Amino acid sequence: MAELTFEPEVRPILKVACFHCHGKDGVRGGDLDLRLVLLMRTGGESGPAVTSGAPLSSPLSKRIAADEMREGKKKLSVDQNDTIHEWLKQRAGTARL
Ligand code: HEC
Repeated sequence: MAELTFEPEVRPILKVACFHCHGKDGVRGGDLDLRLVLLMRTGGESGPAVTSGAPLSSPLSKRIAADEMREGKKKLSVDQNDTIHEWLKQRAGTARL
């Protein structure tokens, strides 16, 4: 699969499903802001949400896999889950690095 990049592929998914609780209007559930990869790497109460080396054991990945953050209409589709997991398995890359 071609390399996935945060801004075009991952951010729009998180924007709809997660930002209202993690970043928007100063709301930071678990003290976590998901709007930038840099902020995910800094992480929240449980430490970095995205980790290099073992991306699929990162809190971000676990929460999505466990489906814990779904609510109402903002559910992630199977395709969206796959996109985020593939992005994590690659190198959680952004347009800049
Ligand atoms: C309805 C609000 C809400 C939505 C939507 C939401 N979250 Fe959360 N999230 C929280 C709250 C509150 C916490 C802190 C309590 C907890 O750990 O469950 C949290 C905690 C987390 C944590 C752990 C943070 C830490 O360091 O302890 C991660 C990772 C996370 N969320 C990821 C996501 C992802 C990814 C999405 C979108 C798919 C998302 N959340 C959507 C409310 C939300």
